[in-house]
Amino acid sequence: MGEGWQAVDEYIAGKLLGADDALAAALANNAAKGLPPIDVSAAQGKMLFLLAQMAGAKRILEVGTLGGYSTIWLARALPDDGSLVTLELEPHHAAVARENFERAGVSGKIDLRVGRAADSLAAMGGDAPFDFAFIDADKQNNALYVDEAIRLGRSGMTIIVDNVVREGGVLEVDSDDERIVGTRALFDMLSADPRVDATAVQTVGAKKWDGFVLARVR
Ligand SMILES: C[S@@+](CC[C@H](N)C(=O)[O-])C[C@H]1O[C@@H](n2cnc3c(N)ncnc32)[C@H](O)[C@@H]1O
Repeated sequence: MGEGWQAVDEYIAGKLLGADDALAAALANNAAKGLPPIDVSAAQGKMLFLLAQMAGAKRILEVGTLGGYSTIWLARALPDDGSLVTLELEPHHAAVARENFERAGVSGKIDLRVGRAADSLAAMGGDAPFDFAFIDADKQNNALYVDEAIRLGRSGMTIIVDNVVREGGVLEVDSDDERIVGTRALFDMLSADPRVDATAVQTVGAKKWDGFVLARVR
C-alpha cells in the first residue's frame, strides 16, 4: 500500500506542482548537510501555500523550521509586505535553512529564531497578530504551541498542526511515546477550548499514514 501512496503523490506532484529548482535545491542541500528527510511532502507544501493564500495571510508563524522546505512554500504565499517568523531549536538546521532561504529568494520575508520554541514564543507579543500558524516541531509540546499561537494570533487565524495521526498511534491510550502523549494532549485541549473550532484530516502519501489538525480561532 505504501508504494501506491508514494506513486500517487508523485503523480499529483507531476500534474499539479511542476519542477521547482529552489525547492529541489533545498531538499538536496538538506540531505547533503545531514538533515533528516522529515519535511512535509511537495503536495502538502503546496497545500500550506494555498491555505495561507486563502486565509489572506500577511503574518505567518511556523514552529519547526528544519531546512526551511515548508517555510519556503509559506513565504511564497505572502504578499510583498508580508512576513514570517519561524522557530528552530537546532543551530545547524537553522544555518542550512538560511542558505535555502537565500537561494529561494525569500530571506527578506523570514525572521528565523533559534532556540527552544517554547522560550521564543514566551518572549513574543506586542507585534501585529499572526494570521496563520504551521506547527511542526516536537510533538510533546503541541498543546502549548497551539495555546501560544492563539495568544499571538487574531480572530479568524488558521492553525495547522502536522503529524497528528502517527500511523494510528494517536489511538494508543497508554502509549509511552511522548509524541503520542503530546498529540493526545493536543486533541484533549482542542476538544475543550472555546477559543477554536478544529478538525483533523487523515492523510496517506509519501509521508505514509498521518494527518493534520486544521483549526480556526474564533
Ligand atoms: C519535522 S521537522 C520540521 C519540518 C519543516 N516544517 C518542513 O516541513 O520542512 C521538526 C523540526 O523541529 C525542530 N525542533 C524540535 N524540537 C524543537 C523545539 N523544542 N523548539 C524548536 N524547534 C524544535 C527540529 O530540530 C526539526 O528541525
